Amino acid sequence: MGFGCTFKELAVLVVMVTLITTSVAAQAKPGCQSDCGNISIPYPFGTRSGCYISSDFSINCNTSFNPPKAFLRTSDIEVLDISLDGSLRFIYNFFMGHDCYNSSGRSLQSDDGFIFRKFTLSHTRNKFTAIGCDTIAYINGFSGPDSSNGFFKAKNFSTGCLTFCGDVDDVINGSCSGIGCCQTAIPKGLNGFFFNFSSPQNHSYVLRFNPCSYGFLVEDGAYNFHRSHLWDTNFGKNNYPVILDWTIGNQTCEQAKMDLKNYACKQNSDCTDPENGPGYLCKCNPGFQGNPYLSYGCRDIDECETQKPCYEFGTCHNTPGSYNCSCPEGFVGDGWKNGTGCRRIFKLQDRESFPILVVTLGIGLSIGLLFLIAGLWWFYKRLQRRKYIKLKQKLFERNGGLLFQKKMYSNEGGLDKAKLFSSKKLEIATDQFNENRILGCGGQGMVYKGMLSDGRIVAVKKSKTINEGYLEQFINEIFILSQIDHRNIVKLLGCCLETEVPLLVYEFIPNGTLSHLIHDQNEEYPRSWDIRLRIAAEVASAISYLHSSASIPIYHRDIKSSNILLDEKFRAKVSDFGTSRSISIDQTHLTTQVLGTFGYLDPEYFYSSQFTEKSDVYSFGVVIVELLTGKKAVSTFGSQEKRGLVSYFMSSMEENHLLDIVDAEIGKDDQKDEVVAVAEIAKRCLNLDGRYRPTMKEVAMELERLRTRQGDCIPINQLKQAEVVVRKSTESWDFTSFSTEHYPNYSITSTSKSDVHPLMLESNSLQDL
Ligand SMILES: *[C@@H]1O[C@H](CO)[C@@H](O)[C@H](O)[C@H]1NC(C)=O
Ligand SMILES: *[C@@H]1O[C@H](CO)[C@@H](O)[C@H](O)[C@H]1NC(C)=O
Ligand SMILES: *[C@@H]1O[C@H](CO)[C@@H](O)[C@H](O)[C@H]1NC(C)=O
Ligand SMILES: *[C@@H]1O[C@H](CO)[C@@H](O)[C@H](O)[C@H]1NC(C)=O
Ligand SMILES: *[C@@H]1O[C@H](CO)[C@@H](O)[C@H](O)[C@H]1NC(C)=O
Ligand SMILES: *[C@@H]1O[C@H](CO)[C@@H](O)[C@H](O)[C@H]1NC(C)=O
Ligand SMILES: *[C@@H]1O[C@H](CO)[C@@H](O)[C@H](O)[C@H]1NC(C)=O
Ligand SMILES: *[C@@H]1O[C@H](CO)[C@@H](O)[C@H](O)[C@H]1NC(C)=O
Ligand SMILES: *[C@@H]1O[C@H](CO)[C@@H](O)[C@H](O)[C@H]1NC(C)=O
Ligand SMILES: *[C@@H]1O[C@H](CO)[C@@H](O)[C@H](O)[C@H]1NC(C)=O
Repeated sequence: MGFGCTFKELAVLVVMVTLITTSVAAQAKPGCQSDCGNISIPYPFGTRSGCYISSDFSINCNTSFNPPKAFLRTSDIEVLDISLDGSLRFIYNFFMGHDCYNSSGRSLQSDDGFIFRKFTLSHTRNKFTAIGCDTIAYINGFSGPDSSNGFFKAKNFSTGCLTFCGDVDDVINGSCSGIGCCQTAIPKGLNGFFFNFSSPQNHSYVLRFNPCSYGFLVEDGAYNFHRSHLWDTNFGKNNYPVILDWTIGNQTCEQAKMDLKNYACKQNSDCTDPENGPGYLCKCNPGFQGNPYLSYGCRDIDECETQKPCYEFGTCHNTPGSYNCSCPEGFVGDGWKNGTGCRRIFKLQDRESFPILVVTLGIGLSIGLLFLIAGLWWFYKRLQRRKYIKLKQKLFERNGGLLFQKKMYSNEGGLDKAKLFSSKKLEIATDQFNENRILGCGGQGMVYKGMLSDGRIVAVKKSKTINEGYLEQFINEIFILSQIDHRNIVKLLGCCLETEVPLLVYEFIPNGTLSHLIHDQNEEYPRSWDIRLRIAAEVASAISYLHSSASIPIYHRDIKSSNILLDEKFRAKVSDFGTSRSISIDQTHLTTQVLGTFGYLDPEYFYSSQFTEKSDVYSFGVVIVELLTGKKAVSTFGSQEKRGLVSYFMSSMEENHLLDIVDAEIGKDDQKDEVVAVAEIAKRCLNLDGRYRPTMKEVAMELERLRTRQGDCIPINQLKQAEVVVRKSTESWDFTSFSTEHYPNYSITSTSKSDVHPLMLESNSLQDL
C-alpha cells in the first residue's frame, strides 16, 4: 500500500467527519428547537407543529430529565440520535422478551408486541438476538400499514434462532454463535412484531444456571454477550439501542417529484428511493452538504478549504458543487495533488525568466570559472615552486654543494667564514643582477655590486659554467680563500651554489684597481711616491703571506695591477684568485701548465711549464715596474714598436737611464735613492732565472724597510749575478713577437679590455710544489 492511497483514505475520512460536524449545526427549521439535551433534532423532525414535516416526525422533548430526553411522538421510544441519511437510533424500556422456568415448568413468559407505524426496523443494521441454554426464540412480524383499515396487518412470516449450551463451560464470552447466544437477521420492512419462545426441555437440565430465555432486537454490534447473562435474572431490564429507518411520505421518488407542492427535497438535492419500504429520502448533490429538506439547506462545500486538493503552486477554484485546480502562468501541469502537479517552465523567450536565467547562469559559471582558475593557478605555482626547488638542489649538487657540505662538516676552521648564500638573497642584493650594478666584466664572468640585507656592500662575482672535473678544486679553493685573513687580501665572504653558475661573494673594495690608479689620467688620484711605495710594500706583504704564512702555500699566479684593488684609503687588496679557471682554460686554449696574463708571465714558467713561487715574484716585479714607470705592461714605448714593458725597463736599467723612464710625478731629488732601490728590487724580481729572484718574503721585508726609511741592504754579489742573467736573455723578452707568432688566440684575449685573467689556484699542485 502506497502512501498516496493511505492519504486518499484519510481525505475521505476527513470529508466524512466534516460532513457530519457541519450537518449537526443549524439543521432545524428556522425558529424551531434544534436540540434536545445533546441530541440534535433536524428537520423533518421537530418538537412542535410546523417544525416537523408530519406528526410521525414529532419529537417530545421531556425536560424533566437531566439532560432532557427526546421521545418519538408520544411513545416511550427514547431517541438517541437522528441522522439525515434516514436512520434513527432509540432505546425502549421493556423491549426484551423473556421465557422463564422453575422446577414446575414455565413460570413467566412475555407476550409483548411492538408496532412502529410509519417507521420500519432497519434490516441491515439490526439483529434479532436470543440467549439461553434450552431456547427456541423467534418473532412473528408485521409489515406495512393496512391501507384498508389504517392498521397494521401481520405479514405472514416468522424468523428466529435457537441456542443450547450442553455444558456451561462450552459457553464462550463475547461469542454469539449458537452456544448460549444466537443472532439472526430480520426481514426488511418490519413495522412490528411479537416474540414467541419455546423450550424443548423446559430448561429442566439447566435450571441451575439458566432459568430464562431472552430475545431482543439490537443494533448490530451493540450487544456483547457474556456468560453471566445466562443466569442474570435482571437481564431482562436491560435495553439496547435499535435502529429505525424513516422515509418521507409513502410515494416513490418518481411520484414525489410530480407532486411538487409536497416534494420534500429542496435546492441542490436529489431524491433517492430507499430499499426498505415506501417513501423516499433526499440527499444533497455532490459538492453540497447540509439538510436537503430545508430550503437552501444544501450548501456548497468549499473543497479548496476542506480537501486542499491542489498542488502547492496550484490555484484552487471552488465552484458551486465542484472545484478544480489550475497552475499559475509559467507553470505546466493539471495542478492536482493526485495529478501531474505544477512544474515551472523556463522559456528563453519569456521576458521575466530570461534575465533571471541568464544572470543565474552567468553568476554560476563565473564563480565556477573563478574557482577553476584559482585552483589551476595554485597548482601551477606549486608545480613551479617544486620545480624551482628541485632545480636549485640539482644545481647545488652539480656545483659541488655536497662536497662543500662534507668539507664544511669535516673541516674545523673556515666553516663560519665560507658561508653559503642563497640564490634569492643574492638576487635581491644585486637587484636581479641588474646591468647598472656591474662593476667589472671579464672573460670569466661579471662582477656585480650588491647590498646584503644586513647592509654590507659586497661584490658578487658571477662566473660562467664550471667544468665538473674541477669541482673539488673549486670547493677546495673556496675553503682556502675563506681561511685567508690578511688585511691586504680581498676577503671572500661566501658563495652560492644553487645557481646555474656558482656565485662568489667578496667584500666590496671601492676605489678601483691599481691599474686605474696608475694609468688613468684622473688628477684626483694620489700618485705620490709614498703611496706607490706603500702599495708595493702592501702587495708584497700579501703575496709573501700567501706564499708562507697561510696554512698551505698559495700561489696567486695572476699578479697584475688590475688584480690589485684599492680601498677607501688607497690600501692595496690583492684579489682575483682565479676561481673561474675552467673558463680561462677553455677560452685561451692554453694547457693548464701555462696560464697568466700576457706581460706579467714568467718566461721561465712559460718555457718549463713549472710554476714556482718565483713566478709570482716575477709578476710582482712587473707590477713594481708599472708603479715606477706609470706605463702599462704591454704598450707602446716612445718611437719603438709595441713591446713588453719588462724589456723596456731592463734595457733602460742597463743603459743606466732609469730616471728617464720613471714616471714624471716621482723621482724628485729626495726620492731618487728610494726609486733606484725599488728599481733594483724590480730588476732582481725580473731575473730570467727564477733561482736568482728573491723570495716574496725578502722583497716584502726590503720594501717595508725602504718605506720606514731604514736603508738599503741588498747584497751586492747577489745583484751582480742577477745582472748577468738578465743581460744574457734580454733579446728573448719581446713577448709581443712570440705571442703573436705562437699564440694568436691568447694574444687577442689578453689585449682585450678585460682585465680579469686569473691564474689557477690548484691546491693539489700547490702541495706538490
Ligand atoms: C448525549 O449525552 C450522553 C451523556 O451525557 C452521551 O452518553 C451521549 O452519547 C450523548 N449523545 C450525543 C449524540 O452526543
Ligand atoms: C415527562 O416524563 C415524566 C416522567 O416519565 C412524566 O411524568 C411527564 O408527564 C413527562 N412529560 C411530558 C411532557 O411528556
Ligand atoms: C413456579 O411458578 C409458578 C408461577 O409463578 C408458581 O405458581 C409455582 O409455585 C412455582 N413453583 C415453584 C416450585 O417455585
Ligand atoms: C406461539 O406459537 C405457538 C405455536 O407455534 C402458538 O400456539 C402460540 O399462541 C404462540 N404464542 C404467542 C404469544 O403468539
Ligand atoms: C399465512 O399463510 C398461510 C398459507 O400460506 C395461510 O393459511 C394463513 O392464513 C396465513 N396467516 C396469516 C396470519 O396471514
Ligand atoms: C467469561 O467472563 C467471566 C467474567 O469475566 C470469567 O470469569 C470467565 O472465566 C470467562 N470465561 C471464558 C471462557 O472466558
Ligand atoms: C414441559 O411442561 C409442560 C407443562 O408446563 C409439560 O406439559 C411438558 O410435558 C413438559 N415437557 C418436558 C419435556 O418436561
Ligand atoms: C399514502 O398516504 C396518504 C395519507 O398519508 C393516503 O391517503 C394514501 O392512500 C397513501 N397511499 C398509499 C399507496 O399507501
Ligand atoms: C476551473 O474553474 C474555473 C472557474 O470556474 C474555470 O474558469 C476553469 O476553466 C476551470 N478549469 C478546468 C480545468 O476545469
Ligand atoms: C484527483 O482526485 C479528485 C477527487 O479527489 C478527482 O476528482 C480527480 O479526478 C483526481 N484526478 C486524478 C488525475 O486522479
